[in-house]
Amino acid sequence: MTDTLLSVDNVSIYFKRQGGDLKVVNSIAFDVAKGEIFGVVGESGCGKSITAAAVMGILPQNAYYKGDIYFKGQRLSDLTVDQQRGLRGNKIAMIFQEPMTSLNPVLTVGYQIAEVLMVHKGLSKTHAIARAVELLGDVKIPSPALRVKDYPHQMSGGMRQRVMIAMAIACNPALVLADEPTTALDVTIQAQVLKLLRGIQERYNMSVVLITHDLGLVSENAGRVAIMYAGRIMESADTATLFKRPVHPYTIGLLNSIPKGRHTPLVPIPGFVPKPDNLPEGCKFSDRCGFAEKRCKEAEPMLLEIEKGHFNRCILTGKADT
Ligand SMILES: Nc1ncnc2c1ncn2[C@@H]1O[C@H](COP(=O)(O)OP(=O)(O)O)[C@@H](O)[C@H]1O
Ligand SMILES: [Mg+2]
Repeated sequence: MTDTLLSVDNVSIYFKRQGGDLKVVNSIAFDVAKGEIFGVVGESGCGKSITAAAVMGILPQNAYYKGDIYFKGQRLSDLTVDQQRGLRGNKIAMIFQEPMTSLNPVLTVGYQIAEVLMVHKGLSKTHAIARAVELLGDVKIPSPALRVKDYPHQMSGGMRQRVMIAMAIACNPALVLADEPTTALDVTIQAQVLKLLRGIQERYNMSVVLITHDLGLVSENAGRVAIMYAGRIMESADTATLFKRPVHPYTIGLLNSIPKGRHTPLVPIPGFVPKPDNLPEGCKFSDRCGFAEKRCKEAEPMLLEIEKGHFNRCILTGKADT
């Protein structure tokens, strides 16, 4: 038996709108086991961040979800507002893409880390600051006792993202939602920050939902992966299987758009992710799919298990090519 930590069960997410609410995520389901890194991959606008917001309990005022989200077997919607607040930043933490917009520019990074510990763990300011210095050391910031007094603008982008990681792990959360944690960084720094996150995840046996538009990033880091498109899961499998036997044309398109060396040309997927209020009939990828036939535009395919643990939402490539 795997030890399921997070269970997203048939979740759809809507924005309230006059004349009919707008569904931006459509019946997604996935489980994340304890100590697992689960990748969620898809182009911009596919519904990755809003899914993370639902799990974190920070959906915008004008949004809501249907379906169930369970954390440690407890349905989040059954918890009181106070209990939910107690989970956020404490048992479930989030790392955002842009540290500059999530860090407060007028407070030192040390104080911002300390604040998390004061709020959730009831530490005194002195103890919390001392712990912040240790955490800055954990995320490999040199001279942490000095840098603890820095303001965000005094740090590089890579350092700021390390501070965000320190804040996220301050309370030793069971689950970290990392939403494009390295997208804003250049490639070398990206690799360092991911390696750091990975090291911390292993040391504390945390679960991580690694959200990214870059399928290449999950290949080395995630155990299992779900490919999202237009608010749906199109394919999911353990990472090794997904890279060895990808079947959905969207997954294959994403794979072809990963740089593989100087001599292999990149083949981007033509066109754009459709807006949630303007989705094609039938398969939501059909208007960009090089293989689409008439029947693809008639009914939306179901997500079917094509081999153990490998799910696919495509009528043309229903079976894995084993
Ligand atoms: N505040 C909002 N109001 C209306 N639509 C929104 C809002 N935020 C996000 N959306 C829509 O929800 C969809 C999913 O967005 P998002 O989860 O941010 O995608 P991703 O993180 O995969 O790039 C998009 O179509 C986006 O336009
Ligand atoms: Mg996003």
